[in-house]
Amino acid sequence: MPKFSDRIERVEISGIREVFEAAGDDAINLGIGQPDFPTPEHARRAAVDAIEAGKADAYTANKGIAPLREAIAEKHRADQGVDLDPANVVATAGGSEALHLAMEAHVSAGDEVVIPDPGFVSYDALTKLAGGEPVPVTLREDLTLDPAAVEAAITDDTVAFVVNSPGNPTGAVSSEEDVREFARIADEHDVLCISDEVYEYTVFEGEHYSPMEFAEEDSVVVVNSASKLFSMTGWRLGWVYGSAERVDRMVRVHQYAQACASAPAQYAAEAALRGDRDVVEEMTDSFERRRDVLLEGFADAGIECPVPQGAFYAMPRVPEGFVEECLDRGVIVVPGEAFGEGGRGHARVSYATDEEDLREAISTMAEAYEALQ
Ligand SMILES: Cc1ncc(COP(=O)(O)O)c(C=O)c1O
Repeated sequence: MPKFSDRIERVEISGIREVFEAAGDDAINLGIGQPDFPTPEHARRAAVDAIEAGKADAYTANKGIAPLREAIAEKHRADQGVDLDPANVVATAGGSEALHLAMEAHVSAGDEVVIPDPGFVSYDALTKLAGGEPVPVTLREDLTLDPAAVEAAITDDTVAFVVNSPGNPTGAVSSEEDVREFARIADEHDVLCISDEVYEYTVFEGEHYSPMEFAEEDSVVVVNSASKLFSMTGWRLGWVYGSAERVDRMVRVHQYAQACASAPAQYAAEAALRGDRDVVEEMTDSFERRRDVLLEGFADAGIECPVPQGAFYAMPRVPEGFVEECLDRGVIVVPGEAFGEGGRGHARVSYATDEEDLREAISTMAEAYEALQ
């Protein structure tokens, strides 16, 4: 038996995959976490042009090409009003790597990281891979993260907490008041707030706020990604930004694990950031329409569901056995507990799917629900 690290033995492949594997080929998949839009043409074009011009053949700077980091800094200046120096941006292999850098650079063995429960699967796993202890915090009834609960979970061992708005798996969007509180908590307790904002552009009601806008100390790092902002999940291009000191530490991990983000993807992301945003608006409008279709279907079926205000996920309350009943009928949804114990009693439904399929899946979910009553 080969010998493995204690850290790797503490993590497992996410439960989401298991559900996919159990499903038949013609199942309607409401388990997928990606937009169902093509990457914008101008982004694809920029990558092709860079390749053809021979600009994408070599390593780039560790942090990424300067024009991309400038475009990212401009984006955050325009969207959040933060005064961001492009030198303090690291282009990464998706938001996934950005989260990894943030954890590796800040978490030591035994340190605690407060994470939302249910929450995106990486927070728990990356904390463990860094040798830390995840401390899950139960969400409010409306599935938003309660700053008071985060504050109550902070101990002398806490080094960081993760905020994710709009949220996966919940679709919940934190209010301005809550986001201000997250910034205050990070400042006052001297713990890092890792703000995962990869669904930033998919907000239906209200607005997206970042703790970076309100923090008065060096207490926040922001993770973002072209994946969901511009429907570019396959390109693997995200970024992380924070203070010069924090970026210096995160680049040390990035340099040895990755060297630099994929060069063609960097050119594509730069073009997406600088290009026409009509596509982004179109995606958001389309997700909102589909969310409404889904919520209406749930209401008709008597399935209770907190109203998601962003991303493209909903988390209805479902009886035990619901996921299996849906699978038997050819619809894939993810059990809530795949995202933490707090997700038990819910299923995560991704509605980034064809509207006709979505309507069919709604009828199927209604039948599955009915069968369990
Ligand atoms: C909340 C959240 N953060 C980060 C990611 C990572 O995405 P990527 O690595 O494609 O940027 C995802 C992907 O599903 C996510 O849902």
